[in-house]
Amino acid sequence: MKICCIGAGYVGGPTMAMIAARCPDIPVTVVDVNEARIAAWNSEELPIYEPGLDAIVRTARGRNLFFSTDVDGAIRDADMIFVSVNTPSKTYGIGAGRAADLTNVELCARRIAAVAEGDKIVVEKSTLPVRTAESLQRILRANGSGHRFEVLSNPEFLAEGTAIADLERPDRVLIGGESTPSGHAAVQRLVDIYARWVPRERILTASVWSSELSKLVSNALLAQRVSSVNALSALCEATGADVEEVAAAAGRDSRIGHRFLNASVGFGGSCFQKDILNLVYLCEHYDLDEVAAYWTQVVEINDWQKQRFVRRMIRTMFNTIAGKRIAVLGFAFKKDTDDARESPAIDVCRALLAEHAELAIFDPKVSAEAIRAALRQAAGLPEAELDRRVVCGPDVYSAADGAHALAVLTEWEEFRHLDFVEIHDRMKKPAFAFDGRNILPHDALRALGFEVHAIGKPAVPRDLLPVQPDAAALTAGGARLSPRS
Ligand code: NAD
Ligand code: UGA
Repeated sequence: MKICCIGAGYVGGPTMAMIAARCPDIPVTVVDVNEARIAAWNSEELPIYEPGLDAIVRTARGRNLFFSTDVDGAIRDADMIFVSVNTPSKTYGIGAGRAADLTNVELCARRIAAVAEGDKIVVEKSTLPVRTAESLQRILRANGSGHRFEVLSNPEFLAEGTAIADLERPDRVLIGGESTPSGHAAVQRLVDIYARWVPRERILTASVWSSELSKLVSNALLAQRVSSVNALSALCEATGADVEEVAAAAGRDSRIGHRFLNASVGFGGSCFQKDILNLVYLCEHYDLDEVAAYWTQVVEINDWQKQRFVRRMIRTMFNTIAGKRIAVLGFAFKKDTDDARESPAIDVCRALLAEHAELAIFDPKVSAEAIRAALRQAAGLPEAELDRRVVCGPDVYSAADGAHALAVLTEWEEFRHLDFVEIHDRMKKPAFAFDGRNILPHDALRALGFEVHAIGKPAVPRDLLPVQPDAAALTAGGARLSPRS
């Protein structure tokens, strides 16, 4: 058995590294058209930041894990080909902004059909609309030269930042295949690979369509939870309730569960929005308009939550932020990743720039170039204007220099452990702190003189701090006072 994976991105790289690490006898080649990315996979500086990834890659690279730009060669050699290319929302034509753009996937199928010199199992790893396997099968059969192609669906459920742990101990592995003898045999071959390290009862098999749809549904349900708690965060702010207390109480019910109920400035990432919109498009295609409207609301609440955060900032800062420096803490769409695709920080920064604010942005892992590129595209500002109004600082302290406000947009652990005395000293007064992730030690900050505004929490604390906080807790290591620490 030889494996090839087309697409060396956030999914292709880590998933194949895990398979190679757990199956030393199976050669795994990851190919991509992006030469720089492949060169990085072959270097000491991997192209993506993911905790634990370096070690896994180091275990297998050069032994049975290879990264290459020779797409045709790898296809020809492999018995099983994973397709793990990007499937963004279409930006043009019918279904623009909602339907999945399947250009890359179709190109892969045509390439496989063109160069295959034997039978292949083609595995959909990318997230795809229901019934894509059918289209792939037709393209492969129509263009192949008589070889057998079995198409399986094996959607990936890893989350960035925890990808290695998710791959090592997945809640489930899902494999969809055709209900034919050759379909069953192909499913079994993939089951056998995962069974090397995943308990058999966690490997689920299903029809191809169920498998494809399950992936969209899983992301939709997860995003729905975030939008639900975010919608309730507005009610908490209005009523004086505390969303963390409400979520903790509701989540204690084992039927609800406590995970994924952290209110935030909004969800981001390359997948939630595109997958829900894809689900919506699918519903509309089948004339299920009410179902489509229901899921659309998950995305609308998310957009509203980001706008609400910015409006609160502007209102609080005396209705104008023009010319005011704002220290933006975090740009990645979540902690422990360098990925800023569809990050809520992009929308928040764009809205702040539209109000003529000046931004000093710090993220521990997203590079200044990536931040500038994202904002250049989103804000539509001339280069010189962007240079003048956006600086990407080397740390939080320099970002806070002369700032009127802090805006926490990513829940990086290190933001809990800052020297807030120094930060306060460096800022203009009143010093505002807008916590879009509810990770700062709010009471301690208030005691220092910050005016704190957090998601789903009343602006004026319920029990106005009577005690002086421990001075040591306010300097480096002050996270002890953080509500979630
Ligand atoms: P990515 O953009 O990081 O990587 C995709 C790679 O595919 C790119 O490097 C690109 O150059 C390459 N590629 C595109 N077309 C190609 C072609 N024709 N031949 C060779 N290479 C080609 O994307 P990703 O984040 O890894 O996501 C891949 C798929 O997995 C998407 O469908 C996504 O929805 C799904 N997914 C992503 C995540 C995640 O956490 N990022 C999790 C689960 C599922
Ligand atoms: C998500 C899913 O969790 C994965 O199972 C799936 O494979 C992946 O999408 C995908 O298909 O791409 P990911 O986007 O990497 O993974 O990260 P999540 O942990 O799901 O977070 C998504 C967004 O929701 C982040 O912006 C995060 O900050 C936000 N979020 C999450 C909240 O605001 N509150 C929460 O309680 C949880």
